[in-house]
Amino acid sequence: LILPIIIAGGSGTRLWPLSRQCFPKQFLTLDGDHSMLQTTMQRLAGIAHQPPMVLCNEEHRFAVAEQLRANQLPHSGIMLEPVSRNTAPAIALAAFHAIKNGQDPVLLVLAADHVIRDEVSFCQTVLSANAFAQAGKLVTFGIVPTSPQTGYGYIKRGNAFAQTTDLEASSAGFIIDKFVEKPDIDTAQAYLESGEYYWNSGIFMFKASVYLTELHRHRPDIYSACEQALACPLMDLDFTRIDKHAFIDCPAESIDYAVMEPLCNTVSPNDKAIVVPMDCGWSDVGTWSALWEASSKDTHGNAMRGDVIAHRTKNSYIYAQDKLVTTLGLENMVVVETKDAILIAKQSEVQHVKAIVEQLDAEQ
Ligand code: GDD
Ligand code: MG
Repeated sequence: LILPIIIAGGSGTRLWPLSRQCFPKQFLTLDGDHSMLQTTMQRLAGIAHQPPMVLCNEEHRFAVAEQLRANQLPHSGIMLEPVSRNTAPAIALAAFHAIKNGQDPVLLVLAADHVIRDEVSFCQTVLSANAFAQAGKLVTFGIVPTSPQTGYGYIKRGNAFAQTTDLEASSAGFIIDKFVEKPDIDTAQAYLESGEYYWNSGIFMFKASVYLTELHRHRPDIYSACEQALACPLMDLDFTRIDKHAFIDCPAESIDYAVMEPLCNTVSPNDKAIVVPMDCGWSDVGTWSALWEASSKDTHGNAMRGDVIAHRTKNSYIYAQDKLVTTLGLENMVVVETKDAILIAKQSEVQHVKAIVEQLDAEQ
């Protein structure tokens, strides 16, 4: 059975002031009644799977445990990272843990902070990709790009993967000709216009052993640090604790840079990595304007949450947490009010929210 791995250790700084270090994006309820983490787990209902494993920063253990408990979400443990080392190590910990338990399951790696509108299509796509993962491929899921985003990975579609009999039931899969993480704006624009690239959804599927083999090949330093960190894990109720000193020594790198780029960009074409197109209303909602795009809007194009009165206001995202927020004559704006901080920004500027957070961190 597929083992879902929920990576929930990000900081989501571009959604400040709602997303905070102590309560980042994946724990927020941005749409509907459940948090992004809860929704991520609930949308797996259409897939036969083992109870998911959640990986997060130790600092957030109670937020995670409470959100799972509140929705009675079955899980197979919460692995705590004593420091953030990005996604390549987090996924390695999950893979080592599964193998230590005497299994070599297909891992379905899921970000805890994505919006997916069409859950049926999502589950169908994942199930159809399972055969590729079972056959030893590293599967990525590709989204048809709609704009030249620089915050995503780009996947160049190669030839259709030759289907052997045991892969007959699977959907379309393409060999990956190139994988480029977070290109500059001109490159992103060229990729968009070429029509040959997908966005990397950040969802992956592979056998635990297959990931570890590739990690060992491309980043033996990350491999060894994670192996050591998990040498004698401590089970403490739902939590799995790892060796802090070993993990501190682990380099911080994302799976995209550590494994996918070196694996896919070798000179001779290789068919180890596959992209399966995914059309399920996916959004990373990484910024306020991406969240505005993914939200339901009124006839003036406004997405509003909380106590808001908006007059003569168009195409804006307005969030009121603590006070009544009223607007007049705004267009293409973002207004986010929380108890102790307010953000007022042009939609076109929202990717720079990170700079405000950095300034705040520096002043602390
Ligand atoms: N457990 C754990 N530990 N999870 C982490 C850590 C960590 O140290 N760092 C990040 N995560 C989680 C985040 O919570 C999120 O769910 C996911 O891993 C991806 O991390 P992001 O920081 O959001 O990555 P990104 O958005 O910049 O880029 C990735 O996702 C894009 C699509 O959303 C890449 O995979 C891109 O290629 C991709 O296009
Ligand atoms: Mg992200």
